[in-house]
Amino acid sequence: MCGIACFVGKNAGITCFEMLKKLEYRGYDSAGMVGLFGDDFKLFKKEGGVDNIKKFAQGLDSSLVISHTRWATHGDTTEKNAHPHISFDGSLALVHNGIIENFLPLKNELEKRGIKLKGETDSEVAVNIFALEKGDLLEKGLRAREKLVGSYAFAILSREEKKILFMRKKSPLYLAKTKDGIMASSDIVCFFKVASNYYSLGEDEIAIASESGIEIYNSRGERQSVTMTELDSTFEEISLCGHPHFMEKEISEIPAIIKRLEAEYKGGRALEKVRYLFSNVDNIFLVGCGTAFHACMFGAKVLEEKLRIPCHAYVASELKYSSPIIKRSLGIFVSQSGETADTLGCLELFKKKNAKTLAITNVSHSTLSRMADEYLSVFAGPEIAVASTKAYVAQILTLMLLASFLGGETNGLLSGFAEKSKEVLKIDEKLVDYVSRQPRVFFIGRGLGSITSLEAALKLKEISYKSAEGYPAGELKHGTIALIESGTPVVVFLTGDPHDEKTIANLEEVRSRGAKIVLVSPRKYEGVHHDFFIKLPDCSSPWLTSVLAIIPFQLLAYRVSLALGNNPDRPRNLAKSVTVE
Ligand code: M6R
Repeated sequence: MCGIACFVGKNAGITCFEMLKKLEYRGYDSAGMVGLFGDDFKLFKKEGGVDNIKKFAQGLDSSLVISHTRWATHGDTTEKNAHPHISFDGSLALVHNGIIENFLPLKNELEKRGIKLKGETDSEVAVNIFALEKGDLLEKGLRAREKLVGSYAFAILSREEKKILFMRKKSPLYLAKTKDGIMASSDIVCFFKVASNYYSLGEDEIAIASESGIEIYNSRGERQSVTMTELDSTFEEISLCGHPHFMEKEISEIPAIIKRLEAEYKGGRALEKVRYLFSNVDNIFLVGCGTAFHACMFGAKVLEEKLRIPCHAYVASELKYSSPIIKRSLGIFVSQSGETADTLGCLELFKKKNAKTLAITNVSHSTLSRMADEYLSVFAGPEIAVASTKAYVAQILTLMLLASFLGGETNGLLSGFAEKSKEVLKIDEKLVDYVSRQPRVFFIGRGLGSITSLEAALKLKEISYKSAEGYPAGELKHGTIALIESGTPVVVFLTGDPHDEKTIANLEEVRSRGAKIVLVSPRKYEGVHHDFFIKLPDCSSPWLTSVLAIIPFQLLAYRVSLALGNNPDRPRNLAKSVTVE
């Protein structure tokens, strides 16, 4: 979370603004920018999105600029907590992505020295720690690093030296040279079309950029030579392509992504390289957060069914601190971004225990993809909307392809499936209207259907702000059924689980308490009443039916969000990439 964009070169203000626009998915609580104009800082920051600083950026005549888009961790979202932060003596300006865990003792130390802070952020503490260190900018960086505990990517602009220092721990930071100057950013997405290669700053390195170029130093402060990584020129342009929102665009791309997955994994050649990871393992951990965790649940079921090895899905933030027994284990880490801090933390843990690791991500250059023993892409293309839609479908399909392949099936699981997926790219307007007027919604199902319930509820919650809960159908009556009132919508997934008949009994239990039933199934059931029916296409396997079942509810969440006047691409309090624990 939080995006850093810096530029050394002509028109640095507007270049940084354009970079920040591409990083806004990392947070949009506030934005800010500082440039060096002569010997002075010119600073502007504002609550809200990046557009609020556009005018300032356009008028900023500076060739050394650092800027930031924020997702608040410490302190509210007001201007005083917005980045950049200026040190007490006015010598340094700093932007930060991450969390300084020991900020309280450091803050006390500053207060003892009589340094008064303007806001409540850990980042403002950090800029003053740097300023207090002796020496030039590089020495300050090397010394301050000894004191700071936590995760960070910093860009620090020195007024006197007219240089920018970059350093990082856990949070990403990339550098690139363009024909107009030097760029630094939290994501290489800023470099596409303007640079041909980039440098991923190492954790023990420090980079110093100025108008005379860029220098990289190791942890002892010695100059390093660097190897640049080539940028993937096949990267797609990120634009709405006529859609009103990225979320709608991304859902509409699902059929094309299915075709891409079918082509990329055809015949299993691309899966063969990971086969060795599955031999001699006693158990498989699938690890992720949020929607990616739901994909892990899906993956655990299909892999266990095919391999008959115990497979369990874990929420990364819980697994990391639970002293898991990692012995003859394989860790599969699922993440759209490949930058989620909790998931990365678990990968580190598995690596420390010498366990085998496989990353399944949508971003080939991500930290997760680079750190794991092996990496499989889900080929969904850039996902911009905060709510994950196409990437989720691509994740579960990749896991299914993997399970089928390892189970010895090479019979083209996805053949004809892209066409079928087009049939569910619609949603009943009456259902949108009904759900928009309800305070809460329940989703129930069994087996894979119970996972679809969790994911459908998460989608609705995160962009419509409605209370929504997903439950295993048989579990509802153990407490939650108390919340069912006359008219409460209950979505029932009957997606081909061998025990769907039991789910029908659960449907009747809620219906008899006044629930409005939304039945989601390839067929209607005689004698089973429903108020809304979402027809799923007939598929060759219940796995595939379950995949299709989520799509109408991604669309429902989108439409309800719009009906309630929300911005579905940018739900409140959220950021696309959660790079802090
Ligand atoms: O990039 P990741 O897949 O690791 O992100 C994990 C979650 O933060 C993410 O899936 C989140 O739950 C989405 N906003 C859900 O739509």
